[in-house]
Amino acid sequence: MGIILATAGSAVGLGNVWRFPFMTGQNGGAAFIILYFACILLLGIPGMVSEFIIGRHSQANAARAYGHISGRKLWKLVGHLGILTSTIILGFYAVVAGWCLQYLFASVAGSLNGDASYVLSYFQSFSTHLWKPCLWAVGFILITHFVIIRGVQAGIERASKLLMPLLFVLLLAIVVASCMLPGASAGIKFLLMPDFSKVSQSVMLEALGQAFFSLSLGTCCLCTYASYFAKDTHLLRSAGEIALLDTLIAILAGLMIFPAAFSVGVQPDSGPSLIFITLPNVFQQAFATVPTLGYVIGIMFYALLVFAALTSTISMHEIGTAFFTEELNIGRKKAAWVLTVVCSLIAVFCSLSMGAVDGLTLFGMSLLDFCDFITAQIMLPMGAFLTSLFVGWFVNQHTVRNEFTNHGTVYQSLFPVYQFSVRYVVPLCILLIFLHQFGVI
Ligand code: TRP
Repeated sequence: MGIILATAGSAVGLGNVWRFPFMTGQNGGAAFIILYFACILLLGIPGMVSEFIIGRHSQANAARAYGHISGRKLWKLVGHLGILTSTIILGFYAVVAGWCLQYLFASVAGSLNGDASYVLSYFQSFSTHLWKPCLWAVGFILITHFVIIRGVQAGIERASKLLMPLLFVLLLAIVVASCMLPGASAGIKFLLMPDFSKVSQSVMLEALGQAFFSLSLGTCCLCTYASYFAKDTHLLRSAGEIALLDTLIAILAGLMIFPAAFSVGVQPDSGPSLIFITLPNVFQQAFATVPTLGYVIGIMFYALLVFAALTSTISMHEIGTAFFTEELNIGRKKAAWVLTVVCSLIAVFCSLSMGAVDGLTLFGMSLLDFCDFITAQIMLPMGAFLTSLFVGWFVNQHTVRNEFTNHGTVYQSLFPVYQFSVRYVVPLCILLIFLHQFGVI
């Protein structure tokens, strides 16, 4: 139970509350969401099951798991790719998690209060500050670090039993409040009525990247967690439940953000800043008649968001830490420090690229946008593509069947469907989406 909860904790995080709304906003709303659902169902769930199979069977760190289950060293490279990906993600993720921490303290101090233009300028001046956001980001990585080396993950798991449902209920309450704002219906329409004219060439890959990012898929993060699963855990059911919960939270986050954004005049395609320039308005305006309630709900929301982000950063940190500990034969503490220092450097550069220092751009994107793009849209799909081919074609199918069916006790009839999907559907779809993105088809 604890480990399934931890896996769900890894999935639910800023990917749902921060990245999903901003991606949806940039890609025209409902049409993007339809593609996103398709990616979760067709590619995400089989992908999760594949990582679960590798992890539970081999009971080892990401790279060793691939080598062990196939008996070939070359496949370890997929594990290495995953470790590299999760390290880069942790770097830029910590920047956004740091913003959430800053917003938590600012909402306690009441310094987010003001009209929509004040809220916007607050974000702009804070995120382009030279050292403040860097400190918050590094601080967030250090918190993750200490959770990992103190081994208090069990405590975090126990806390999430209470805090995750609380986040859910709070989201629901904020959704209701947000939908009652004047002019909110335009936001609801944006989310529910597809406008295919806004769909661009790149929308498929963006939906795919968002689905994988949100499910924590493509870095063997799920593999690492599955190495702690019990022998009788139903892999398919767990994948389905986690995907459902994760998608539900993303949709609620969308229903919280867009009605409010349309109501106060925030552009839906504002990018990574979207939730930060929208939420403070919600807490003030939607609760205008009872400001104390808005104040308390705001604080609780940022606190729960920080917690959700922490359960995700723990999972990313853990992949690298487990790898360095076992492969470099150094102590766990040292291994964790290696990762913490590397991620902190990435975080600092990403943070500075938000405007504090000019020229920190790659291919016309800020470093933060670039890291987000290259991981979510290139490296995660590549990891999932290779993992799928690996499980479908290179692992002994007897082993795969045994893991999928818990040695012939469950889901026997679904195995051929799963097998067909990892052999053909998943790799071909990812390949086609790539080819489409780069204009080949
Ligand atoms: N899924 C998490 C979120 O939605 C982020 C995350 C955690 C992740 N671990 C990961 C993304 C591994 C990719 C790979 O916030």
